[in-house]
Amino acid sequence: PRTEFVSDLLSKMTIEEKIGQLNLPTSGDITTGAPSNSNVAKNIEEGKVGGLFNIKSVQKIREVQKIAVEKSRLKIPLLFGMDVIHGYETTFPIPLGLSCTWDMKLIERTAQIAAQEASADGINWTFSPMVDISRDPRWGRVSEGSGEDPFLGSQIAKAMVNGYQQNDLAKNNTILACVKHFALYGAPEAGRDYNTVDMSRIRMYNDYFPPFKAAIDAGVGSIMAAFNEVDGIPATGNKWLMTDVLRQQWGFTGFAVTDYTGINEMVDHGMGDLQTVSALAMNAGIEMDMVGEGFLTTLKKSLDEGKITKAQIDNATRLILNAKYDLGLFEDPYKYCDEKRATTEIFTAKNRAEARAISAQSLVLLKNNNQLLPLKKSGTIAVIGPLADAKENMAGTWSVATNMEKSISLIAGIKEVVGKNSNVLYAKGSNLDYDPAFEEKATMFGKTLHRDSRTSAELLAEALKIAYQADVIVAALGESAEMSGESSSRTNLEIPQAQKDLLQALLKTGKPVVLVLFTGRPLVLVQENESVPVILNAWFAGSEAGTAIADVLFGKVNPSGKLTATFPRSVGQVPIYYNHKNTGRPLANTEGKFEKFRSNYIDERNEPLYPFGFGLSYTSFDYSNLKISTNKMNSREKLTVSVDVTNSGNYDGKEVVQLYIRDLVGSVTRPVKELKGFQKIDLKKGQMQTVNFEISLEDLKFYNSDLKFTAEPGRFEIFVGTNSNTENKVSFELIE
Ligand code: IFM
Repeated sequence: PRTEFVSDLLSKMTIEEKIGQLNLPTSGDITTGAPSNSNVAKNIEEGKVGGLFNIKSVQKIREVQKIAVEKSRLKIPLLFGMDVIHGYETTFPIPLGLSCTWDMKLIERTAQIAAQEASADGINWTFSPMVDISRDPRWGRVSEGSGEDPFLGSQIAKAMVNGYQQNDLAKNNTILACVKHFALYGAPEAGRDYNTVDMSRIRMYNDYFPPFKAAIDAGVGSIMAAFNEVDGIPATGNKWLMTDVLRQQWGFTGFAVTDYTGINEMVDHGMGDLQTVSALAMNAGIEMDMVGEGFLTTLKKSLDEGKITKAQIDNATRLILNAKYDLGLFEDPYKYCDEKRATTEIFTAKNRAEARAISAQSLVLLKNNNQLLPLKKSGTIAVIGPLADAKENMAGTWSVATNMEKSISLIAGIKEVVGKNSNVLYAKGSNLDYDPAFEEKATMFGKTLHRDSRTSAELLAEALKIAYQADVIVAALGESAEMSGESSSRTNLEIPQAQKDLLQALLKTGKPVVLVLFTGRPLVLVQENESVPVILNAWFAGSEAGTAIADVLFGKVNPSGKLTATFPRSVGQVPIYYNHKNTGRPLANTEGKFEKFRSNYIDERNEPLYPFGFGLSYTSFDYSNLKISTNKMNSREKLTVSVDVTNSGNYDGKEVVQLYIRDLVGSVTRPVKELKGFQKIDLKKGQMQTVNFEISLEDLKFYNSDLKFTAEPGRFEIFVGTNSNTENKVSFELIE
């Protein structure tokens, strides 16, 4: 029926109406770039709009949909899109934080709640999941992805798509997902956003493509092209990427949308004028043009001149109409416009309670000397720092629908959790940084930090006064929400100097200091790691951040988050990632000693500060008895690896048991370690569990120099442990 319905509709459409379906303007409600200049309402009436994005509220969406279905000739309903990235009004941790839960059920649940709230507010399409692998924390958008690992990233991509779409777009509480940004956006030269990418195909296939393929295998309905070039041609105009890989190799059947003015930007990339680049995008396999109106204003001319074909326009229109059909919009264009749902299903107490629990799982304990954490609910606690009373910043970047006013700051969360048991004092201590110009760039979209007009000395004096009265100091420091995210690349990965100075002054009081770190990216924390007894990385944990952090600080929740992106010792080590190659001159020593004519630095060790997979708990876990079911495996067999994990400390807790492989010899060079399995387990204190992993041929496959996905016979090592540094290993041989 879909094919017939859409074919029938297509047969009634003029070429202008078809091109109109390929046009996606923004409403201007939420601005994420230069606004589009057309009169959107008039265009909708004339059948020149396929969807609209960044318009918020059922009432407004109903009004606009009404124009489409009552005033346009063919009454075709619109898609309504939005960047629902990590929650809607109820906001979950930034995706990088969320990935540190390593819990696919929870991650799927966040997308499901996001879909429920967004659909209750009129939205039927989200520009998520963002699955760009990145190994470069200078790039601000690391905050929006799931870190550096293709295996974990693929599982998360799948969980997110399932959460949004629930395999059933006919329901009214699911929405169409859009996997982005295809492809390689996470690897810009020098970490500068939108910059050139140059990468071998073998690396694309092995490291950067897998999460996209996983999203497609999970049935994602749409895909967004990246801004950057791929192999010398911008992704938006790259036929090899958008058709050969995406459609022919992977069988994608949904539609492809550009990023914001992605077509127009190909003019600046040096690909030709607007007509040329619009035709280039259509010929590459793009169906929908976000904001720039290149399709709207030039495709007809290109068709008349034979630069594109009618079949291409028909096909693109069909794919967009298919999505509208799948969403049930032809049956009921107001399916998502239910005023009652909008008042009862958004930012509910239940959703917020779930968010609080999920947010607590995303926190990563980086250091906890002398088991200073968990804190006792007693005595006097001084909460100091520019991020302590910053509810506007808690949701982090790309949280356009978040309920900023009702987000919970750290100070509010601590007060709620300790109640009357402790005396909680607060001082700002410093501004975000000394430089107001920097602060302005770092606090956009209303995510203000209220720059304090007092001098640094005055702010410090106030902070020290309460610090001396306290039994423990909680220092809330780091980045503001908009210091990471789109267009927020950094060359310096340290906490801003004003806050570093504040921290050192607090440490000099001799009081115990707990650093609660807010950040959207891996930071360089060498000085903090040396000087502060406790570091709890809180990322931007969402609308319930304050209570979630307090739940961890005071021991209601035992932290279990594990890093999904390596924390470097120095910016000079970037890009740094655990699954690197060995080189022909690896270091012989593991102590980080410099070796001449080996692959290392004269001024820095090779190892990061905190490796991929790292994260502490209030309890401890012992690994023993690592076993493998066979030391020879043929291609039809599976083997089992088992390990005993014991909670040997004093608290119940969760542990992410991680399995890595190393393919020792290959026809192409292979990484020193690759994540191939993980299990998050829950152990009572004293409890032991045997954890089993099954390894099959699929887990040993990689793309070779012919880009064939294959496993090669030979020796493999399997490492199982608490993070990617583990040397706890067994080995086996893959035979023909
Ligand atoms: O979805 C986003 C994308 O990630 C970056 N550019 C703007 C788009 C729409 O807001």
